[in-house]
Order: sequence, then structure tokens, then C-alpha cells
Amino acid sequence: MARDMIAILDFGSGDNSGIARAVRKAGVYSEIVAHDITLEELNRLPGLKALIYNGGPNRAYGGQQLIPDEEVLKCSLPKIAVGCDFSVDGENLPCWNENEQNIINVLIEKAHVERNWTMEGFIEDQIAALRKQIGDKKVLLALSGGVDSSVVAALLLRAIGDQLTCVHVNHGLLRKGEPEQVIRVFKEEMGANLVYVDAVDRFLGKLEGVADPEQKRKIIGAEFIRVFEEEARKLDDISFLGQGTIYPDILESGTKTTKNIKSHHNVGGLPEDLQFELVEPLAQLFKDEVRAVGEALGLPHGMVYRQPFPGPGLGVRCTGAITRERLEQVRESDAILREEFAKAGLDQKVWQYFTVVPDIRSTGVRNHERCWDRPVIIRAVNTQDAITASIEEIPYALLGRIVNRIITEVPGVNRVLYDLSPKPVATIEWE
Ligand code: XMP
Repeated sequence: MARDMIAILDFGSGDNSGIARAVRKAGVYSEIVAHDITLEELNRLPGLKALIYNGGPNRAYGGQQLIPDEEVLKCSLPKIAVGCDFSVDGENLPCWNENEQNIINVLIEKAHVERNWTMEGFIEDQIAALRKQIGDKKVLLALSGGVDSSVVAALLLRAIGDQLTCVHVNHGLLRKGEPEQVIRVFKEEMGANLVYVDAVDRFLGKLEGVADPEQKRKIIGAEFIRVFEEEARKLDDISFLGQGTIYPDILESGTKTTKNIKSHHNVGGLPEDLQFELVEPLAQLFKDEVRAVGEALGLPHGMVYRQPFPGPGLGVRCTGAITRERLEQVRESDAILREEFAKAGLDQKVWQYFTVVPDIRSTGVRNHERCWDRPVIIRAVNTQDAITASIEEIPYALLGRIVNRIITEVPGVNRVLYDLSPKPVATIEWE
């Protein structure tokens, strides 16, 4: 299915994603391209109907004036400028600084762009593209159960069925019920080839006595690659590696104009002799679009709309050296918190909410006897971008219920605290 598209030329505005998302919200596919893209390169973009020049007041980046390509500026495609002036043959391009969505609608009407960017259309196109790319070869995918890898799995399954093998590594740091859900949804309900690897003892063994957070992260990351690699070597004739790369990962790696925020290292660390070609079917999508695709492919709502969860999992919420006892306390208290938040409808409202079990003890009284138990810390934050975060105000009665359940249901816990610290200075995670 052919779809129309608008290209956004990056003249250093710093908010290209905002414009790209606004165009897509209007039902038109959009892509951010380098400011000095040539006409020849533009002509290779399928369905291109209009251009948006997006820049700051001086169109400057790193003290340098950014010069538009003359041929592109003079081409017949309808154009607008946002946040900066551009002139063609002495005449300024229409330039709007008001409400973004209006500007975009005016451009769409003027250029007769069809609003035909839909998730159903995307799925249909991607399935055709994946079948063409992969042919009769085999694909391997690390399926963590997170939103991106789950949606990639569902899409690949629809496209190539049993040419796909998914590997789910249980490192022992997943939330309660997660490995079971991955097995149920993908293996039992969708019929995927799923290799389930129980690596709990192996990870916890490597982590034993390691208290430094960065060291813990490194061990978890490196061990994950090792386990995945071992599984990959057991399988024959794998040609492709599926990746849950999404559009913000690519944008964050930086274009020519926008500075590199962080390098995208989804691929990370597989040995050179394991050579796979990458399959990245979500690389054009923003997160909300990934979720919509997941739902359209029949994944459970809770899986597709789940809160962010760090790669090192509960490992960074069981502070200091991880013990099985404290890990269980984090897992059980987190499950209670999630259940109560869902009942109260807060799971739709709060960006991230979880519990932490620090490596300290305090005195308590249980059944008339002194106890020397652990505290559980609750954290619930809202944020746009995870760079700053504010504290969610939780109704007192709900907090009371959660506290009660945690101190009665989780063995070895005698105290519950609520973390009121915003980011900055406190990060969202405790480690
Ligand atoms: P912080 O703690 O830095 O977290 O305020 C910001 C966001 O990033 C997540 N986070 C991680 N995600 N690997 C990940 O995949 C990590 O090591 C990691 N550390 C933090 C955190 O959950 C929050 O959403």
C-alpha cells in the first residue's frame, strides 16, 4: 500500500520529533532528514509530497550557519518553514510560529497529501517487506517480554511464522509472572518457536557479593550476551537477528545536525564470528505507534502498555549485593504495588512505579517479639522524558492499603517508606 509522506529537514531546531509526531498525528507519515539532503536523495523517498524546514531563529548549529540545498529549496514540492526564515528567489517561504498542528494541516491541504498513515497499513507493508528481506531464511530474536521485543516478535511471527526462533532468557531479575506470560502468549497462544532459558542460578551466582551498581549492570549485560550467544550457536542456519530498535533510538543516535544524545546500542556486543544481518521492523515508529501495532497484532493490552522496566531488572532495585531473600521481597512487594495501582486505575496515570529493598534493617515488633527486618521503599513518578521526574501524589487510603498488604504478605518486611524525592537530584531508580 502506497502512503504519502512529509520530510522534515533538520535545521537544528532541537524539536524535530515534536513536529514529526504532529505530522503523524494528522495521519501522514513523516521522516526527519538531514538539512543538506540533495534533491536526488529526496526523490528516492517513496510517497514524498511536501517539505518542512524546521530550524531555530539563526538556523545555526555549533556556531555555524546551516545552508539549505538550492535545488531542494527551488523544487516544486510544497514547503513551509517552522521557527526560521527561508527565501526562494527573494520570496520568503510561508513561515508559521503558532500552533504546530494548524500549520501541518494547512500544508497537508495545500499539497494534497493523503492522510493514509495507519497502523493497519504499516503492518501490511512491513509484512511484505519482511518476507522480501528474509525470503526462506531464519531469524533469531531475543524476546525479553518488553514492549519493543514483543511487538517485533508478533510482527515477525505474522510475516514468517516458524522461520522465527525467539529466545527468552530468565535472568532471575524479572518481575513476578513475566517469564510465565512470555511463554503463555508467544508459545502457547501464538505458537512461536520459543527457547526458554532458565539462567537464574547462573546470573545470581555471578552477582553474588557484588555491591557496586555499575559492576552489577556490567555483569548482567555481559552475562546476557553470553547466554544469548550460547543459544544462538546451538541453532543452525540463522541468517538474521531481529531487533526492537524504534525511531527515537535512531534519532537519539543523532543526525548530522542534531547532536548525539546517546548512542543507540541495542545491538551490543555479539562476537564477530556470529554474523547476522539485522531486521529492525519498528525502526520508523514512535513508541505510541509501536503500542498501537502491538494491539493490532493481538498482544495483550497489559503487555503493550506496560510501564518502562530497566534491562538489569529488579537487580537495581535490590540495592547493594543481591540476596535471594531480598530479591523475593522486591518481587513480591512490586507485585502487590502493581496490583493495587491497577485496581485504583493509577497504572494508566503514573509513568513508572515500583518498590526497592535497600540493604539495611530496622527494629520492629511482630507477635510480641522483636524483629530485625527489611524496609520496602515505594517509588511512583511521572515524567515526559525520564530526564526530570516529579512525584505522584498517591491517595493516603491507597498507600495505607499497600503498606498493610506488604507488611503482612511479604516475609521479612516490617516497614514501608514512600520516596518523595524528585529527579533531579534523585534518579528514578535507586541504583
Ligand atoms: P534513572 O534512574 O536514570 O532512570 O532516573 C531513567 C529511566 O531509565 C531506566 N533505567 C534503565 N533502563 N537499563 C535500562 O534499560 C538501565 O541500566 C537503566 N537504568 C535506569 C529507569 O527505569 C527509568 O525509566
